Amino acid sequence: MTPGKLARRAPSPAASDTRAAKRRKLEYPPLTPDDYRNGVMLAPMVRSGALPTRLFALKHGAKLVWGPEMVDKAILHAERVVDPTTGVVSYMGVSKAMWTTHPIEKPFLIYQIGSADPDLAVQAAKKVMNDVSGIDLNCGCPKPFSTHAGMGAALLTNPDLLCSILTALRENLPPEISVSAKIRLLPTQEDTLKLVERIVNTGVNCLTVHCRTRNMRPRERALVGRLEEIVKFVKGLGKDVAVIENGDCVSYEDSKRIRKLTGADSCMIATAAEANPTVFSAQPYIDLETTFVPSYVRLCKYLNNHWSGTKFCSSQFRGEHVSGNKSTQTAMKNAIAQAKSYDDLEKLVSPWTGEREFEEIVSAIEARDRDRQPKIEDDAPALSEATSSCTAAAAAVAAETAKATERENSPAASEGAESATLSTVSSQDLSTVKTPVQSHSPDLSLLRAPLVPANELRIPVPAAVSGEDVPTPTPSQQSAEVA
Ligand SMILES: Cc1cc2nc3c(=O)[nH]c(=O)nc-3n(C[C@H](O)[C@H](O)[C@H](O)COP(=O)(O)O)c2cc1C
Repeated sequence: MTPGKLARRAPSPAASDTRAAKRRKLEYPPLTPDDYRNGVMLAPMVRSGALPTRLFALKHGAKLVWGPEMVDKAILHAERVVDPTTGVVSYMGVSKAMWTTHPIEKPFLIYQIGSADPDLAVQAAKKVMNDVSGIDLNCGCPKPFSTHAGMGAALLTNPDLLCSILTALRENLPPEISVSAKIRLLPTQEDTLKLVERIVNTGVNCLTVHCRTRNMRPRERALVGRLEEIVKFVKGLGKDVAVIENGDCVSYEDSKRIRKLTGADSCMIATAAEANPTVFSAQPYIDLETTFVPSYVRLCKYLNNHWSGTKFCSSQFRGEHVSGNKSTQTAMKNAIAQAKSYDDLEKLVSPWTGEREFEEIVSAIEARDRDRQPKIEDDAPALSEATSSCTAAAAAVAAETAKATERENSPAASEGAESATLSTVSSQDLSTVKTPVQSHSPDLSLLRAPLVPANELRIPVPAAVSGEDVPTPTPSQQSAEVA
């Protein structure tokens, strides 16, 4: 790498030694269709599906994780750089890393490509294939930046091109690299089935179906009812291809309902995981401002995650609130909104124990079985540890709340501080904490943890099962759409 590029990256925090980076290499057999089955997956998400989020998703039970879509040409110009301390692998763009990964996630990592050209797709896949287990083709992004170049959802109406990309990937990549595709529904079921048949015949291991059509907006309920027929159809084709449901699945519990309803092999979660990366657990964290955000920021700093990405992702977190006063919760959000660097969050999240957060993630991942399933175990730390870390974070937030309120000369200053302090869970409450089954959730969030987290971005209703498509919105509505 060039010295200039090295200089642009802030040095990693000093680690005790480079042992951590060196031993992180898990040996798993190549992905098969079965590895895409019987799980809850993290969806590809531009910006939001960054390395720290993927690592937490894996820690909390995601079976496989998809990275954010990368356009083929973009990664071809990137330079691969390894941080000798943390082991983080960065694909460097002109001014910052375009895409980062870590060897610990490789057995579970699917790299998603945006492409409209079989040759470019193969070149891009070859560039990253030593760092990932599978390559997925994005055939669902409806945004103009993707579709104008013939990529994403534009491929849905160009099945020849779509299938030629998948075929090229399958024929030119080594067999140990799995190939898959993620599509949206077409307006009619008949056309959808025709497309599905062609995709299945390209040799993919897995097909993810986002149960919305290209013109549907993210807030519209996913047409999950249409998936059952698709799943049966794929099974009837006699090819060993896993089908993953995507759209409106909000939690581990919800995935059980949707899989029962549709027969899908697995479910994939995007929006709900963007709001709470622990939703893959049977008992996801609640009160994220104290139970999750500090750990997330500490891990990001340790991994040298670009500050702007950390700030963006942290500002998206919104979980269920059970304990705590609104001022406690908003203090963390305000602090993140105002922070210009990791240093600005020092008071709320220090000491900077990111290496420990990383080690916990590594332990959880290493404890998986050979089928890549998260281990079911009792692994909550001692209550005193959970108490001290959570109350410390809450107390720091409370102190910040008080200070901020004071600065604003608000008469409510002392009241805010007091109520924020009171929001920490008392030691008496802790006697009711139960270590969850099928979860690595280790803290106070287990108290009365809900099975389905709040999703403030969307109306919290179950996915639609009507089997009917919705009217096509006007083109102007499309621009507001997310992939
Ligand atoms: C912030 C964000 C970024 C996304 N980026 C991608 C992407 O890079 N590739 C892709 O195929 N889909 C992308 N999507 C779509 C999701 O993967 C998923 O298909 C969609 O949000 C429906 O799932 P959900 O109902 O769980 O949100 C994105 C969604 C969100 C919310």
